[in-house]
Amino acid sequence: MRIYREKDYEAMSRRAAQIIAGEIVHNPACVLGLATGSTPEGAYRYLVDWYKQGLISFQDVLSVNLDEYVGLAPSHDQSYRYFMQSNLFDHVDIAAENTRVPDGLTKDPETFCQEYDAYIRSVGYVSLQLLGIGRNGHIGFNEPGDHFVKQTHVVDLAESTIDANARFFATRDDVPKQAISMGIGAIMGAKKVLLCASGEEKADAICSSLCGPITPKCPGSILQLHPNVVLVADEAALSKVPAGVIA
Ligand code: F6R
Repeated sequence: MRIYREKDYEAMSRRAAQIIAGEIVHNPACVLGLATGSTPEGAYRYLVDWYKQGLISFQDVLSVNLDEYVGLAPSHDQSYRYFMQSNLFDHVDIAAENTRVPDGLTKDPETFCQEYDAYIRSVGYVSLQLLGIGRNGHIGFNEPGDHFVKQTHVVDLAESTIDANARFFATRDDVPKQAISMGIGAIMGAKKVLLCASGEEKADAICSSLCGPITPKCPGSILQLHPNVVLVADEAALSKVPAGVIA
């Protein structure tokens, strides 16, 4: 695993955006696995900026997002489709039909999840998978549990995830209790994984994912088995990782 130790959120965002832009330049028809939440917002800002400067184009890029809340329409301002449109897709030249975000309103989640995985297989898996990490070690919405779930699936969000995401909603009760998440199979099938983390509240999750046992109790720990992971994190998020691991 290659680790970039950056000073702060801004530097982390710039480094992550450089890696994503590098992927696009190297492979214009790449498949980007995308994440939402606070962590990638800054990186998306850089990508939009570089697109506007004519440095990168998303014309041939395919994207597939990690997750979506069950019950939220794409027009809901806390849905992950809405997040992707407003933070990236609406500002670059990606074709609407080349973007995939799980459908939080699907009437048939089982078929939907199977089709989502079939789509990922049909495009040869993700070229570069961008990941944030939950305070509890979740990646995508693969929450801590007693086994890793391979397929895209409907997941009951952990209470700690609902607590963490309540900041985006008017009240905690408004946070959806379920999500559709890409499974560990598609994440581990990505050719390259770009894990990003910022802030002290991610320090335990990063330390356990890098240095702890590989266990579904900390889903991020599975990344120890991936052959091509780049971690971009700020000093605060790396503060609990022993110095020897980073050097
Ligand atoms: C989002 C996702 C989640 C987040 C994680 C961290 O698509 O899959 O795993 O990356 O919950 O969220 P933030 O970045 O808001 O701290």
